[in-house]
Amino acid sequence: MVGQRVIRVLDDPAALFRAAAEEFVARVQTAVRAHGACAVALAGGSTPRGMYALLADAGAGLRSRVPWEAVHVFWGDERHVAPDHADSNYRMAAETLLSKVPVPPSNVHRVRSEEPDAESGARAYERELQESFGARKRMDGGWPRFDLCLLGMGPDGHTASLFPGTDAVHEAARLVAAPWVPKLTSHRITLTPPVFNAAEAVVFVAAGADKAATLAAVLEGERCEDLYPSQTIQPVGGDLVWLVDRAAAAKLTR
Ligand code: 6PG
Repeated sequence: MVGQRVIRVLDDPAALFRAAAEEFVARVQTAVRAHGACAVALAGGSTPRGMYALLADAGAGLRSRVPWEAVHVFWGDERHVAPDHADSNYRMAAETLLSKVPVPPSNVHRVRSEEPDAESGARAYERELQESFGARKRMDGGWPRFDLCLLGMGPDGHTASLFPGTDAVHEAARLVAAPWVPKLTSHRITLTPPVFNAAEAVVFVAAGADKAATLAAVLEGERCEDLYPSQTIQPVGGDLVWLVDRAAAAKLTR
């Protein structure tokens, strides 16, 4: 069974964040109704901040619709920094969302990105995925079955920490990789394409004119995963939803 493939263009970032937050609420509710819990992989970077803030804001009417106590929070990727570092994806989510909603601390599965050796952080995260999804009987053929993976896309076509020209883009056996990213002169820790592609739903959230050319290439151009790693994300049985603002969609032809 192939999932839905949806591209929604929202007028502006505010509308985009609202649509993304509504999608989050709907996916979490569906998962909790179906199997009593929801495993979400949060996206990093800056775009999700607006969405997370809406989810945390009691006045936005979304916070109370989420059964937070049944949500397990993971990250799609993490920078190789301590959790209190300004670049930490954990810190961004903790500040904008997790410090403001009642997700049980034991349900927050942070990447141990402070380990001097990124590889050992990746191995520890892999064990945590296997334990958590195994305990909830949500492993599918050796792959954790996320209910929702949130992703962003960089202007270079990367997603999570799957960067052009890095081996992680083609990782087919491991759950978590710790690629050296030359352009960043640093390691990253990232879920691999098979993990994202085992998810019930992957939702990309992208905004801004600086992504317009790349978005058109990713969605409408030739398949070239080395150049555009976001193209590796094709959930096998799950839904793939692109939520983009008008500026990012400016070069789409359909
Ligand atoms: C990260 C993210 C990364 C991000 C894109 C888009 O760790 O930076 O996982 O994949 O989603 O770079 O970032 P912006 O939302 O800041 O444009």
